Amino acid sequence: MLAVVSVLLALFAVSSAQQQLQQPNFTHHAVLDPNGKFRLNWSPATNGSGYFTFECVVATRGWIGLGFSTNGAMAAADMVIAWVDASGRPQISDRHGPAQGNGFPPADSKQDYELVSGRKNNTHTVITFRRKQDTCDPQDWKITSDTTRLIWAYNDQVPASANDIAKHTERGVKSVQLVNPQTKDGMATILADPSTVTFDFRLTSVTLPTDKRTLYWCEIMELPKWNKHHIIAV
Ligand SMILES: *[C@@H]1O[C@H](CO)[C@@H](O)[C@H](O)[C@H]1NC(C)=O
Ligand SMILES: *[C@@H]1O[C@H](CO)[C@@H](O)[C@H](O)[C@H]1NC(C)=O
Ligand SMILES: *[C@@H]1O[C@H](CO)[C@@H](O)[C@H](O)[C@H]1NC(C)=O
Repeated sequence: MLAVVSVLLALFAVSSAQQQLQQPNFTHHAVLDPNGKFRLNWSPATNGSGYFTFECVVATRGWIGLGFSTNGAMAAADMVIAWVDASGRPQISDRHGPAQGNGFPPADSKQDYELVSGRKNNTHTVITFRRKQDTCDPQDWKITSDTTRLIWAYNDQVPASANDIAKHTERGVKSVQLVNPQTKDGMATILADPSTVTFDFRLTSVTLPTDKRTLYWCEIMELPKWNKHHIIAV
């Protein structure tokens, strides 16, 4: 009886250690597309010279691409393309958008994205990789606490090599905060706290122009006369 118990304990210890290796606890999560087919988990670096670890979970058995840019365009964006090849080996390629417009993203002369793990099943590909917050490569994006436009793409075709990647069939853009902490239980918990006060800032009669992608609007507003409060969420 005693022998059986200790064997079970040993097996349990091995499998949970493996799980921790394969699945770091990601602190940040985002769904990049409207249909929940491109999910991203990541953990920011603990300091400016540390590594960000990203995990892409995508409903494809082909290649997946993730890019970082200021404006959501491919031009001059930092990109990484990864896939699980025909023999089951994960592959990763550090690339960048063309200097202008859209087109095939050339490989960086310095490869700064490191593969952690990659696998796929009948429906999904899961690729985990890491990169430094600042790789010091002008062909890469320096991650900052500013809003980052993540560009995502995939294609169900498995590339034969990094020089033979078919054009994406699905693509999109999502704005995220890569560095700032995300609240675990979301706004619901914060709002449920009776000591939380909320205030809506409403712009007065702004007509959105139809000929601009982005509009910046400045308006000065007076806060209600509260006692001292801390702003905890925006
Ligand atoms: C990961 O999360 C689990 C469950 O929340 C926790 O028990 C474990 O200590 C965490 N591991 C690390 C390395 O933070
Ligand atoms: C930054 O974090 C990394 C681990 O992510 C560590 O190796 C490095 O020593 C840290 N650097 C500083 C200056 O604290
Ligand atoms: C395939 O992998 C995805 C992503 O990890 C997972 O959500 C899904 O349940 C897996 N499917 C099967 C049949 O295991």
